[in-house]
Amino acid sequence: MTSETKSNIPVHVSLIMDGNGRWAKERGKERVFGHFEGVESVRACVEAAVEAGVRYLSLYAFSEENWNRPEAEVVALMGLMVKAMANEMESLNKNGVRFVVIGNRERLAPELNETIDSCMAMTADNQVLTLVVFLSYSGKWDILQAAKKMAAHMLACPEDVDEILDMDVNGFDKYLATAGIPDPDLIVRTSGECRLSNYLLWQGAYSELLFVDTLWPDFRKKEFHSAVEYYSKRDRRYGKVK
Ligand code: IPE
Ligand code: IPE
Ligand code: MG
Repeated sequence: MTSETKSNIPVHVSLIMDGNGRWAKERGKERVFGHFEGVESVRACVEAAVEAGVRYLSLYAFSEENWNRPEAEVVALMGLMVKAMANEMESLNKNGVRFVVIGNRERLAPELNETIDSCMAMTADNQVLTLVVFLSYSGKWDILQAAKKMAAHMLACPEDVDEILDMDVNGFDKYLATAGIPDPDLIVRTSGECRLSNYLLWQGAYSELLFVDTLWPDFRKKEFHSAVEYYSKRDRRYGKVK
């Protein structure tokens, strides 16, 4: 593939993995079966992202609002995360994947936090793909925690106040939980819902959006490559005239 064609490959693809419950219901099964099957889709999309030359793949795995689901589903999802991380990490590491979790980690159980810490430490130097899992995350939470960090910085370092007040939007990026991760070029949501559900509100300002009817457990390599293909045909204008 020439570098010319490569330039239309998104650097950062983000997936809102929705529709697990409906996938299970269609089969007369408990919602949790959809979550289990969804792990297979994650594996397939990680492989497809590497094949496509995508450098950052991010996944909306659990929103701040998802804490309001029935306790049994939350417990099952959290258990599934620990298991999936433990099972997949060696292979991710072998394939050069850097694993990062972003979100309000204070709400996560200690066992999950320990697993996350060890997976992040093990894969920290990998460079083929950065896999970001947004867990206990919401866009409004992120913007608010960034504003609080900035206020704390001002109080701790009054000598920086002028610099902070002169700051542009790029300066604010460093306070966000996603600091160091490029904004998503493409956000794909599965299951036919056309909303962001409080995801990457700041970072998604100029993302291309794709809503597909496929339920997350059915979203595999073919669907991922189709999404990348869709992106490659978009004309991103950023408010300018071309
Ligand atoms: C996405 O599937 C998984 C999470 C939000 C954790 P859902 O569980 O939302 O499935 P539906 O949308 O109810 O079908
Ligand atoms: C969005 O899905 C969150 C994730 C995919 C993790 P939801 O299923 O929670 O979103 P709503 O409630 O339909 O907006
Ligand atoms: Mg849903």
